[in-house]
Amino acid sequence: MSTFYVTTPIYYVNDLPHIGHIYTTVVSDVVARYRRLAGERVYFLTGTDEHGQKIERAAAERGMAPIELADRVVSRYHELWRELGISHDDFIRTTEERHERGVAAIIERIRESGDFYVDRHEGWYCAACETFYTEKELVGDERLCPDHGTPTEWKSEENVFFRLSKYADRLLEWYRDDPRSVLPETRRNEVRSFVEGGLKDLSVSRTSLDWGIPFPGEPGHTVYVWLDALTNYISALGFGQGGDELYRTFWAGGDTRLQLVGKDILRFHAVYWPAFLMSAGLPLPTTVWAHGWWLRDQKKVSKSVGNVPRLDHLIERFGGDSLRYFLLREMVFGQDASYSDEGFIERYNSDLANDLGNTVSRLVTLSRNIFDGRTPPTPCDDNPLIPVARETVRAYREAMDAYAFQNALQALWRLLAEANGYLVEREPWKRVKEEGASEGLSRVLWNGLEAVRIVATALLPFMPAIAPRVLRAIGAGEPPEGLDALAWGGLPTGAPLPDPEPLFPRIDKAAYVAEATAPEAADLRVGRGGGKDAPVETTEDTMISIDQFFETELRVATVRAAEAVPKSNKLLKLTVDLGDESRTVVAGIAKVYEPEALVGKQVVIVANLQPAKLMGVESQGMVLAADSEGRPILLHPAEPVPNGTRVR
Ligand code: MSP
Repeated sequence: MSTFYVTTPIYYVNDLPHIGHIYTTVVSDVVARYRRLAGERVYFLTGTDEHGQKIERAAAERGMAPIELADRVVSRYHELWRELGISHDDFIRTTEERHERGVAAIIERIRESGDFYVDRHEGWYCAACETFYTEKELVGDERLCPDHGTPTEWKSEENVFFRLSKYADRLLEWYRDDPRSVLPETRRNEVRSFVEGGLKDLSVSRTSLDWGIPFPGEPGHTVYVWLDALTNYISALGFGQGGDELYRTFWAGGDTRLQLVGKDILRFHAVYWPAFLMSAGLPLPTTVWAHGWWLRDQKKVSKSVGNVPRLDHLIERFGGDSLRYFLLREMVFGQDASYSDEGFIERYNSDLANDLGNTVSRLVTLSRNIFDGRTPPTPCDDNPLIPVARETVRAYREAMDAYAFQNALQALWRLLAEANGYLVEREPWKRVKEEGASEGLSRVLWNGLEAVRIVATALLPFMPAIAPRVLRAIGAGEPPEGLDALAWGGLPTGAPLPDPEPLFPRIDKAAYVAEATAPEAADLRVGRGGGKDAPVETTEDTMISIDQFFETELRVATVRAAEAVPKSNKLLKLTVDLGDESRTVVAGIAKVYEPEALVGKQVVIVANLQPAKLMGVESQGMVLAADSEGRPILLHPAEPVPNGTRVR
């Protein structure tokens, strides 16, 4: 059985994840699931990059210890990976001891090669990149970082250096001799010309940093974050830790080692990392694949630009699988792509609700009505859909092998369109009146369902929650475990068809766009009551004056009625009594509180908040809750007080 190792970059924990971070992990998951279906032995790794000045500073700004901030952000990652159906085999954190041992082991090997020396290092430093820049690379008179556009600072310190320059020729050979080494080809050309431009030795320790791994054998030095972070790909497999069977299977003796990264971190993965490995005498990745960026309003999506789409909202409203589909369908892997709320909902309504959802429900409803709640009794092995299905599967597999996910999905949607056209031509809904449960109709409907079965099977890597539901809905039973199931003819005849359930409820575009964009404050509002964005974001502004605080009108209120907000698994609609008035307040607490249990309880609300619509319900205030690792725990007065009492 051939082995397939796929990794994502490990994510910084200075802030919460956004769409750009989840993208690489979703792509890796699609690859991992596809390879498992193809019968390969897969190991899929993701994790977090927790050391360095960036994290140290972000934590200090929030008055936290770095590890506290890391723990919070990591719990959000775990939650997101669950919501998005990510099937990783391991999640590595660079603060784990196993990782430190791996880093010590690679450093020992590099030292044995004679590739370290100590020297003074001076230059312009960007803490956000954790990188020194030359004067030439900086932007403008203010010497701004070319990547972040923020000021750099002058640093002068003793560092351990790695003889990167020694590996220039071997790196160039690698790019030249192995066309898979760095993909897409444009990126390979980019790193090649970077290396051809000359490589300077790389400083791989810092003396001005405490939050990191102590550099073995160099007291007072901390390992440079990129040497630390890159080693995760093998430390997670047990490298340098005795029990290294995974390392031997998936790295040293593995068939494919695929490393997916964003184009901004290509140099680290396609130059520094292979050079470290060469020095340590270890095998290189088989492929470093660099994807493009998600843009919004023409700018790279990023927290600092403030243009991040709201993941919570998208996942809650459309489901993790719809977001996965959008990400894979919209971006040509390797190029940049644009996100917009309008674009998202158009794809959702047209591809998922209409093309996939309606085709399934139309076929299932007809079969149930005509064939007594079952799949049709007569299969069909000679019809115009068969060659189309065969060609679809060929195109799909070819695209999946080339990481051209968009093409793979397009091929499947062509088959769906053909199946629909086939039905429209044969009009089973009309013919049933004359023919009843005829053999001809049985063949027509069976063919339609069989085409959908093939599409749903091929969608298993993309939509791991919905595709199995489609298969069950059309009577195909449990999801298959191999790609053989893509061959024509697998749908059972006369199998019971369960009651139809809506797969992708249509969503009104205008209403959604208003809801998603209007109350930006809603993030905090829902966040305070249990959203995941609260713990880190709300601490960003540090000190306020007492007057500023009193601008917020906090009051005690009694909950008179509570009910779930339709289609939301997080929101409750509360009717609260403020003494002289009654209000509706929407709170993101449904995962922790049953509505009935709240009636009669006193809570604290923000009474002077601008009203905002959440999932179509106007909220006239916000309920306060402690955020206990993402679980909202309501605040109550310690003894009953009149409704409307102010909280100060
Ligand atoms: N910690 C380093 C990686 C170390 S790997 C040994 C890091 N972390 S990161 O959190 O800043 O970024 C992780 C990944 O997210 C990168 O691959 C980056 O390209 C990706 N993205 C961040 N913003 C992005 C977009 N707007 N669009 C697509 N991906 C982008 O770098």
